Amino acid sequence: MEKFVINGGIPLRGTVNISGAKNAAVALVAATILCDEPCILENVPEISDITKCLKILRDMGADIQLKDRNTVYFDTRSITEPKVPEELARTMRASSYFLGTLLGRFHEAYVPMPGGCNLGDRPIDQHLKAFNALGAKDEIINGSNHVWADSLIGNQIYFDFVTVGATMNAIFAAVKAKGMTVIENAAKEPHIVDLANFLNSMGADIRGAGTDVIKIRGVEYLKGVTYATIPDQIEAGTYMVAAAATKGDVTIANVIPKHLESITVKLRKCGVHVEENDESVHVWVDGPLMKTSLKTMPHPGFPTDMQPQFSTLLTMAEGTSIVTDDIFDNRFRYVAELRRMGADISVDGKVAVIQGVGQLKGAPVSATDLRAGAAMVIAGLAAQGTTEIDNIFYIERGYENIDEKLRGLGADIKRVIKPDVEAVKLSG
Ligand code: EPU
Repeated sequence: MEKFVINGGIPLRGTVNISGAKNAAVALVAATILCDEPCILENVPEISDITKCLKILRDMGADIQLKDRNTVYFDTRSITEPKVPEELARTMRASSYFLGTLLGRFHEAYVPMPGGCNLGDRPIDQHLKAFNALGAKDEIINGSNHVWADSLIGNQIYFDFVTVGATMNAIFAAVKAKGMTVIENAAKEPHIVDLANFLNSMGADIRGAGTDVIKIRGVEYLKGVTYATIPDQIEAGTYMVAAAATKGDVTIANVIPKHLESITVKLRKCGVHVEENDESVHVWVDGPLMKTSLKTMPHPGFPTDMQPQFSTLLTMAEGTSIVTDDIFDNRFRYVAELRRMGADISVDGKVAVIQGVGQLKGAPVSATDLRAGAAMVIAGLAAQGTTEIDNIFYIERGYENIDEKLRGLGADIKRVIKPDVEAVKLSG
């Protein structure tokens, strides 16, 4: 098992390049199942969630070739069975995307119940509602979701609440259905727009992505294309917050500043300078950090995937901040870890009250999920002394080379092999 060891207190300085977006790339990779010719994806982040998606496709029979570190060739025509193998699928949430893509292509899919970060119960009732609206039936069989249809017919889909995953799956199932599908109360995240752009470049007819009504006229054939994934909004936001927390001066390059606006606005409220350029943002701090309050919301609101990192920043700000995050049940599990570093946070249900303490102190902590892990890295970079973070496999699900990128900004962060306590006990 590996862990990160960080000697904190060094202001980050320099330029960091942002990788392709995890939550876009997992959808684009799954979408290659719908493509009737080979296609190439560029700017694919080298992270474990993507490695797992590629392995799932390979195990199903697809021809997948890495052209270089971030460019992948896909020929999924050799997939003959609409079945996702058990083991890998259960470890990631995005495996549910194979339900929509396999249903769209084969009119049938078997996908093990999805896993992913432990953020609480994550039902897929809205995904199934979308499939049912297009004429599919569903059942659970041997722990897998099974969906099937004689044919998929376009229809109106109204989501009870905004959901990224169900919007993606509705698009997958509708893109080759007969006639017109209208998705209402659709999610508006940049990765939804990226998926629509990818499919449209193949010949799909999807309009309105990025608004809450998406109209899809089904097509019969999708041609091969080369397409580049958008930059990762959350990775960029994480480096913005890391720059602020260490009172550094960092240019975050290869970003779409518009996607970062909700984060930029909140950072400015805290007294952080953010300058937006065409494809980069420059973040620096030359005064005290100030409190602010925030509530997470679907895009274009403040993203839940930035809440743990931003709350960590607020532990160092002057005054009391209130953070509300009710998108998932369990997004404050990292708070106990931050308390070990001297943070003063109390949580009541979906609301955290953060009393700024100025300076955190290094401590051994754990990454309790992906974004919580990123929050621990930020805390460690800003803290006085040494922080050791274990369970870093969570962080590697979504951040490409985070330690290397941070060293490029001057951070003292090392990846070390953690002795296996049980093995030591047995041998000793
Ligand atoms: N929900 C349901 N039923 C459904 C679908 C969703 O009750 O059928 C609930 C969820 O349990 C949750 C809320 O609706 O409480 C929103 O869920 P959503 O479907 O929007 O989330 P998701 O598709 O499961 C994606 C990202 C998450 C990100 C959320 C919210 C991917 C692969 N995952 O999850 O990313 O937090 O949207 O923006 O795109 C992360 O990257 O760290 C991460 C967790």
